[in-house]
Amino acid sequence: MIDKGRVRRSFERAAHEYDRVAVLQREIADRMLERLDYVRLQPQRILDLGSGTGHAVDALHRRYRRVPVIALDVAHGMLLQARRRGRWWRRPLCVCGDAESLPLAADSVDLIVSNATLQWCDLQRAFAECLRVLRPGGLFMFTTFGRDTLNELRQAWSEVDGDSHVSPFLDMHDIGDTLVHARFADPVMDVERLTLTYDRVRDLMQDLKTLGAHNATHQRPRTLTGRARLAAVEQAYEIHRHAGRLPASYEVIYGHAWAPEPKPRADGSVAIPLSAIGGRGKLA
Ligand SMILES: C[S@@+](CC[C@H](N)C(=O)[O-])C[C@H]1O[C@@H](n2cnc3c(N)ncnc32)[C@H](O)[C@@H]1O
Repeated sequence: MIDKGRVRRSFERAAHEYDRVAVLQREIADRMLERLDYVRLQPQRILDLGSGTGHAVDALHRRYRRVPVIALDVAHGMLLQARRRGRWWRRPLCVCGDAESLPLAADSVDLIVSNATLQWCDLQRAFAECLRVLRPGGLFMFTTFGRDTLNELRQAWSEVDGDSHVSPFLDMHDIGDTLVHARFADPVMDVERLTLTYDRVRDLMQDLKTLGAHNATHQRPRTLTGRARLAAVEQAYEIHRHAGRLPASYEVIYGHAWAPEPKPRADGSVAIPLSAIGGRGKLA
């Protein structure tokens, strides 16, 4: 289970320096948003879920001029950065809130994008909330990380101790199943493997720290990592060194799905207007 307080505190602390190291996050946000080229949608209101410092918000403003974009994040510091970005006439509406309990009305947005955020959330709850706030026919598009992400680091730590130092990530199929269970329509998922390379393991660890990407599970170790264990991890990681560099693998999962028309109610039932089925029914 994810310790939400820890997630929020980590990203609050990371907000100032996040942009300096979020190379991969920007790249996959751009790749995700390119997919909107193939979608027929003219949104009236857009939500960036887990907006961070607002890179995708900027891109959405350029793509859909004059369409209001809500930047929502659990970390207030991230939203302050997002607000500073861009010109005043296209600043996002910033909302500090939780993806698992969105402070937004039902059927109030047409497009939700979410980049590199859902791995910090309870997916069932976040997907249910996305479906609730999407208008029927609205689109949900996201990236997250799959289970092979940072596997070199996980493997190196496993040789040093039995603790969970690296966040666990979900299997792409489970994410797809969760979308279906949430009653999204026509889900599409695909995966891409990207690798960052480093001179030293401690540079990778420093980047993860600067990003705010700490292990936030309740099972994480609570003690400080001593020098000896750090040295042992560095040594265990050396087996992966290739052409003089240490790889850090990311399994990037891209997904999108639609809010069905008509949308299911919270109890799973679907209300179909009589006009849509041409019936002559009377209320009992
Ligand atoms: C890795 S950053 C990605 C930020 C941005 N989407 C980007 O591409 O740069 C993850 C963001 O998700 C936010 N976040 C994590 N859990 C959240 C939750 N439950 N609800 C809303 N935002 C959350 C964090 O505060 C952080 O800003």
